Amino acid sequence: MKRAFNFGAGPSAIPLEVLEEAQKDLLDFQNSGISIMEASHRSKLYENVHNEAISLMRELYQIPENYEVLFLQGGASMQFAMIPLNLSKKGGKAQYVNSGSWSTKAIKEVGIQGIECEIVASSKESSHNHIPADIKFDNSADYCYVTSNNTIYGTQYKSFPSTKAPLVVDASSDIFSYLVDWDKIDLLFAGAQKNAGPSGVTIVIIKKDLLERVGDNVPTILRYKTHASNNSLFHTPPTFGIYLINLIMKWLKSKGGIDGMAKINEQKAKILYDAIDNSDGFYVGHAVKDSRSLMNVSFNIKDKNAELEAKLIQEATDNNMIGLKGHRSIGGLRASIYNAMSTEGVEALVALMQKFQKENS
Ligand SMILES: Cc1ncc(COP(=O)(O)O)c(C=O)c1O
Repeated sequence: MKRAFNFGAGPSAIPLEVLEEAQKDLLDFQNSGISIMEASHRSKLYENVHNEAISLMRELYQIPENYEVLFLQGGASMQFAMIPLNLSKKGGKAQYVNSGSWSTKAIKEVGIQGIECEIVASSKESSHNHIPADIKFDNSADYCYVTSNNTIYGTQYKSFPSTKAPLVVDASSDIFSYLVDWDKIDLLFAGAQKNAGPSGVTIVIIKKDLLERVGDNVPTILRYKTHASNNSLFHTPPTFGIYLINLIMKWLKSKGGIDGMAKINEQKAKILYDAIDNSDGFYVGHAVKDSRSLMNVSFNIKDKNAELEAKLIQEATDNNMIGLKGHRSIGGLRASIYNAMSTEGVEALVALMQKFQKENS
């Protein structure tokens, strides 16, 4: 069997142990004679999986009692629309930080709904190479919004700005990679396909008091309250994806939980950033140091040498390391080192980068 080191930004690597477990279960889940994919979402067989995924997530991510865990569809992009639909008040305003392409898309959706959206800070002028400093949100905003990890530019908040207004966090590319401070967060969401499972499931963790806010004209399926009142079983949920999330929660537990994973993530990122910093300028990181992401390491080769960058990506592919091409907006390379990327994978990449530098400088 061939298994590559997958540095893709998403959908991305899933732990081998999880895939093997799913393979084992695929035809006959728990001696039921059917696959979990074939089970009714109203059956006990499926419901146990669904509820276990929620309770393990609560335990591992230390989600307080006064938050609901929802499994939705439509990707993180659907949340860009659902958030203003549900949380805005008549005549009110939302406040956003623009730290990259995904924030920009989220901001656009607020405007489409005719809701006032203030951008309180932006890193656009410097190609989103940092998280803006001194972010000042109004306590009177309907809600405030940040993208915790900027998947394309490789920047990440080290702590969230304080506000008395509800804080919404797009954690699509760093959910479950460290323990968050729930005192600061009112709604956190993520498409599952980076750190939590396969594409097709979106996780929303929302403070219960926000469920009541929704206006009269919001369609039933787009209301958080609909899904919360039905334990995310209002309609057919993405059952196989939720089953995989459950397996990933068990895998996380076996790795020492999210705190254990956070330590491994720090070590992995250090190995890669050290290689960049010790390359005498051959490799150049995109993010400024204090904004560096532990999940997505975006970098170029000196003078943005596209020819050498393509050559390195090819050599990596030849050596079983895939998904390293940087996003077209900044070019270069991007190594996504989510929870499922092993230290061994990062070490293999660094060894290749060092060899490549010797041969090409
Ligand atoms: C930070 C962030 N937000 C939102 C999205 C959009 O996710 P989806 O494709 O699930 O809509 C992505 C996708 O990469 C992302 O990285």
